[in-house]
Amino acid sequence: MSIRADEISSLLKKQIEGYQSEIEVNDVGTVIRVGDGIAVAHGLENAMAGELLEFSNGVMGMAQNLEENTVGIIILGPFRDIREGDEVRRTGRIMEVPVGEELLGRVVNPLGQPLDGLGPTGTSKTRPIEGQAPGVMDRKSVHEPLQTGIKAIDALIPIGRGQRELIIGDRQTGKTAIAIDTIINQKEEDMICIYVAIGQKESTVAGVVDTLRQHGALDYTIVVTASASQPAPLLFLAPYAGVTMGEEFMYNGKHVLVIYDDLTKQASAYRELSLLLRRPPGREAFPGDVFYLHSRLLERAAKLSDDKGAGSLTALPFIETQAGDIGAYIPTNVISITDGQIFLQSNLFFAGVRPAIDAGLSVSRVGGSAQIKAMKKVAGTLRLDLASFRELEAFTQFGSDLDASTQAKLNRGARTVEVLKQGLHQPLAVEKQVFILYALTKGFLDDVPVEDISRFESELHTYLEHNNKELLAQIKKSGALADADEMSGAVESFKKTFQSK
Ligand SMILES: Nc1ncnc2c1ncn2[C@@H]1O[C@H](COP(=O)(O)OP(=O)(O)OP(=O)(O)O)[C@@H](O)[C@H]1O
Ligand SMILES: [Mg+2]
Repeated sequence: MSIRADEISSLLKKQIEGYQSEIEVNDVGTVIRVGDGIAVAHGLENAMAGELLEFSNGVMGMAQNLEENTVGIIILGPFRDIREGDEVRRTGRIMEVPVGEELLGRVVNPLGQPLDGLGPTGTSKTRPIEGQAPGVMDRKSVHEPLQTGIKAIDALIPIGRGQRELIIGDRQTGKTAIAIDTIINQKEEDMICIYVAIGQKESTVAGVVDTLRQHGALDYTIVVTASASQPAPLLFLAPYAGVTMGEEFMYNGKHVLVIYDDLTKQASAYRELSLLLRRPPGREAFPGDVFYLHSRLLERAAKLSDDKGAGSLTALPFIETQAGDIGAYIPTNVISITDGQIFLQSNLFFAGVRPAIDAGLSVSRVGGSAQIKAMKKVAGTLRLDLASFRELEAFTQFGSDLDASTQAKLNRGARTVEVLKQGLHQPLAVEKQVFILYALTKGFLDDVPVEDISRFESELHTYLEHNNKELLAQIKKSGALADADEMSGAVESFKKTFQSK
């Protein structure tokens, strides 16, 4: 057997070529500037946008600005130990988070690391944090209701599975309360909830987790939190981490609700890191792509077509306004991206109308298609009634003589407002909502004193549970109103017992 020299040399050449490509010089860079959660590195020409990079002390970073000679990196962890001249390595992976059922019941940070002291999450799967939203053909129009258990929302501003509904209001107007009550109400709805807390106090988040646990709602919930003390990059990433965890369930045919509390703080964090990365500032010093920050997030909410498994991901983004100004930059951006908004007013809140929903300024562009038939029937004229009540109320403050029909409208309006009030953490099943609204619109409440309405309502529910169980079950099962005589009969016979007190 003869050995041919040219064969050996070509083999050697190949080996050498292969060897060189393995130690790509471009895979290791050097930090040339660092501070405030941002690093700039030289020598990472091949880094990809959004790629995970590892600093020599093990802290991770994410490539953001890809410039001619340098890469701007956001640091995902403590940045004080990173020094000028340190090495940065490419990992070849785009930023990703762990996903899967193991995360249910856990409190994690935006990188999926546990914060609840219950040990490792034990996830085995990951998903890239920036994903493409499902296209037109993969979607179906929103048609199933997402019951929040809050009368004012389910009756007036219904939310459908796969919808994006903005919740907007000043500070301390009960925004977070709506999120918590909605999660609590999903207990029997086969819905997975993800609560993303952005820039909140750690004590507030601990309070939320506690409330969820007490109501047995933590088992089907993932809490993702980047608190106010965390560096800006984590606040910026938190919503994407949340939606990514949700997508894993949606693409497996499940229903998911993701709550972002709140996106104002995410936008501020993004502004902070954009300015540090020396991106040009625009209006209110936000970078030019702040609209895209929220649109690419909210577009990932969807109701999937039957071919794709019919899962859904509903998004409830929150925005905090200053002095009720919904015309500011970030609020108008998010209003234009979502399918409607629920506007919470602080003057209503202080007047004791809680939840403080302004029925005039709140809309749901999905509307009646996300309501069961019975609710559509009883709530049909509620919004108009309420609007005309508000108008009349303002007009009649001067105390002139009123004709009977105006007086009747005012009476009904005052009772409507009273019925739509609801306490904390008391979500109401839809069939009970239907019943009380039925009683209201059919005039059964007109002669009940306003101050007795809430007692009337709670006693009616108890009465129905004891005496008309089948009727409630029937409404729940069929989704339609039961026989009018039967419903009226039930309310009437309850009313007799109520008045005799
Ligand atoms: N329906 C309600 N009935 C009674 N109290 C309520 C109701 N909703 C909210 N509250 C109370 O109002 C306070 C503020 O509520 P919440 O924290 O939900 O508001 P927020 O808008 O999220 O506030 P922040 O701007 O601080 O995040 C809380 O103490 C809460 O208990
Ligand atoms: Mg809040």
